[in-house]
Amino acid sequence: MRPVIIAANWKMHTTPAEAGELARTIAARMREPSVTRVICPPFVCLAAVRDALGAAGEDVAVGAQNVHHELYGAYTGEVSAPMLEGLATWVIIGHSERRQYFGETDDTVNKKLKVALDAGVTPIVCVGEVLEEREAGITDDVLRRQCNIGFRGISGERAARLVVAYEPVWAIGTGKVASPEQAQEIHHLIREVLREMHPGSKKGAKGGPRGTSVAEKVRILYGGSVKPANAKEILQQPDIDGVLVGGASLDPRAFGEIVKAAL
Ligand code: PGA
Repeated sequence: MRPVIIAANWKMHTTPAEAGELARTIAARMREPSVTRVICPPFVCLAAVRDALGAAGEDVAVGAQNVHHELYGAYTGEVSAPMLEGLATWVIIGHSERRQYFGETDDTVNKKLKVALDAGVTPIVCVGEVLEEREAGITDDVLRRQCNIGFRGISGERAARLVVAYEPVWAIGTGKVASPEQAQEIHHLIREVLREMHPGSKKGAKGGPRGTSVAEKVRILYGGSVKPANAKEILQQPDIDGVLVGGASLDPRAFGEIVKAAL
């Protein structure tokens, strides 16, 4: 069983003064020990959210929304993985908004993933097709490319720590949600690609049980207009291990209901 993850992506919302209070309110509404909870506020709010959750004794992880692929240097405005120490234990990498507006590619995603793993930060790597790609019938090819390049060069042991978020770009912030079947199909494909990349141990020499492969360990989240009304059906799919929530994660009531849908 892969533990369910419910992650909030606040995007470019909240000031430090607002963020602590919002994090505390949200955490109080989503108290479920069986669910891994993660809140990803803007960089400038990380300390406020960490402090507020710590003071309230809430076991909620804090994540950043991006990280630079170099460790330090002349990169004005950027934040590196070692700089997250003490502030964030998770990080979103390659969100479609970063690919769309900030020129991120499968290659930069791969570099960012490696520095995050080196720093001991849990990466949530986002993949997903745009509408034109879905309409052209090349969704599988796009996802295969994103995974093959984005996750390349990583040992099985490290790859098992990976969290992937399948976020069809046409479903982000649009109110359009992939059907549970559409989402399951792509999650299954992502697991298949991971299995190809990390075939895992074969049957034990004495006919013992098969080793758990990387693909079985990686948690794959769905993202894109997740709301209380659609969360349950999405989370019931066998290859969907949680959700990454944007808009609804700023509303404590809605986000609390999404967490309950995971039970
Ligand atoms: P949304 O965003 O829930 O507002 O569609 C999801 C995301 O971008 O991670």
